[in-house]
Formats: sequence, structure tokens, C-alpha cells
Amino acid sequence: MRSLILTASFLALTVSRVVAQSTPDEFFETRIRPVLSTRCYACHSSKLAAPKGELALDTKTGLLKGGKLGPAIVPGNPSESRLLQALRYTDPHLQMPPSGKLADSIIADFEQWIAAGARDPRAKTVVARKKIHENLQERPNMDNSAALIRDLRQRGLLDETLVVWGGEFGRTPVSESGDGRDHNPYGFSMFMAGGGVKGGMTYGATDEFGFKAVENRVSIHELHATILHQLGIDHEKLTYRYAGRDFRLTDVFGNVVTDLLA
Ligand code: HEC
Repeated sequence: MRSLILTASFLALTVSRVVAQSTPDEFFETRIRPVLSTRCYACHSSKLAAPKGELALDTKTGLLKGGKLGPAIVPGNPSESRLLQALRYTDPHLQMPPSGKLADSIIADFEQWIAAGARDPRAKTVVARKKIHENLQERPNMDNSAALIRDLRQRGLLDETLVVWGGEFGRTPVSESGDGRDHNPYGFSMFMAGGGVKGGMTYGATDEFGFKAVENRVSIHELHATILHQLGIDHEKLTYRYAGRDFRLTDVFGNVVTDLLA
């Protein structure tokens, strides 16, 4: 019987530690930036009217300039870096993030990053691209998905494991409400690997704006029918009796997308 690995892009941070060897830029992108963006930007972003402690951590300049107490980091010198002291919770008056201490391994990553010169490739990015970049914070996770698949293949497990990677919706190419692109249920990408699906192909396409799926659309029922099929289950026979009726995961819809099968 095949096993299934399902992962949403939001959960993918948990596998980020798969990345073993990395260049300084990769180290920042995979270990440092995701922590800053998920745990610090809410209070320390240049986009806020009044960043807490006058400290913005979403730009290299902000990071080096520091806050009202002075520089947040001294590149090459972790012990002099206020940011690290804040993460370590040693000073009762400055403990960050306030909601609770980060894992020791994450704090160790920050120490390593500052000791190695606190390289921050964000400065290289021109303004327009930076915006896109920040909206694409999931990007480092794509490396993780590749690492997961490589690991499975290396261990001879990819044939019997179906990897399904995606989120519950995509993003529109535009934004109608402030920062960040809006949720898009009309067309978005997921990928599958291993588990008897065809490799190296793309199925379906959106319109030229990336707004709506127009070619070979795969509905959620079709996706479910296809996943169940790869697990050896006929989605029309898989029912669950509830309130006197037999319910199917795929309701009364869905065909297995045979084009995707190896
Ligand atoms: C919920 C809001 C919040 C979050 C999230 C948060 N901080 Fe803070 N931070 C504050 C506040 C408030 C201050 C100002 C404290 C003061 O002035 O006493 C501060 C101050 C700081 C300072 C000192 C700045 C200065 O010079 O005054 C550092 C360094 C810092 N935070 C780092 C971080 C880091 C790193 C993270 C993420 C891991 C983080 N903070 C997450 C609220 C937050």
C-alpha cells in the first residue's frame, strides 16, 4: 500500500532544516528571513506607521541602523548584538519575540549568521523586485520540497510515496486590498511527485494573467479522486454513513485524472 505525504506550503517551515550545506545567501533565505518575517515583521516592519522600538527588521538598512537603543546587530560580533540578547531572553527588559522564546536551534542559527558577518542579500534586490520577493516568502520552501523528494528517492521510498505539495488557494496576480496579493481559488498550482504519477510534466494552464485556470482544469474532487486512486481506493466506493446517508469525499463529482498517472 502506498503512503501519502501531504503538505501545505504554510507547514513547510517545519522541514526547512533539511537544508544542510548552504551558501551565506541561502542561509539567510532559508534560516533567518523566514523567522524574521513570521516572528518579527508584525511589530518591526518599515511598512508600519510606528515600528516597535523604532526598529524595522524587513530591510538591511533597518537591521543595521537598529532601533532607539542603537544598532540591533554588530556583524561578526554576536555577543555585542542586541538582537541576539533579545532572542536569548537574558535581559528581563528585552525579550523577543514577546510571545515566547524561540527554539534554541533557531537562536543558534542567528548566532551563526551574525558571527559570519550577518550577510543580508536583501540589499541587492531593487525596490520593485523586493516587493515581489516579500510576497514570495514561501520561495525557500521550494528548495525544501526538492530536498524531501531527493531524500525519498535516495532511500528508495519515492515509488511508494505520493507527495502532494500545495496550499489551499493561490494568489491573484493583483491586489485589491492593500499589501499582498489576494486569495485566488480560481487557478493555482500544486505539484505531485512519486507514488505512480508522471514526472517532468505540467498539466493545465491559467489565462495569460494567471487569474483563472482555463486549460485542463482539475477540480478539488478530481484531485481527491486521483490521490485516492493512487492509494488503491475507488473514490466512488469510499463512503462514510452520516445522518442516514452515505457521503463520499468526492460528493457526486470527480474523475481520476489519468493523464497524470505514470
Ligand atoms: C508583538 C510585537 C513584537 C514582536 C513580534 C517582536 N517585537 Fe521586538 N520589540 C517590541 C517592542 C514593543 C519593543 C520595544 C521595547 C521597549 O522599548 O521597551 C521591541 C524592541 C526590540 C528590540 C530593541 C530595539 C531598540 O533598539 O529599542 C529588538 C532588538 C527587537 N525588538 C528584536 C525583535 C526580534 C528579533 C523579533 C522577532 C524574533 C521581535 N523583536 C519581535 C515588540 C515586538
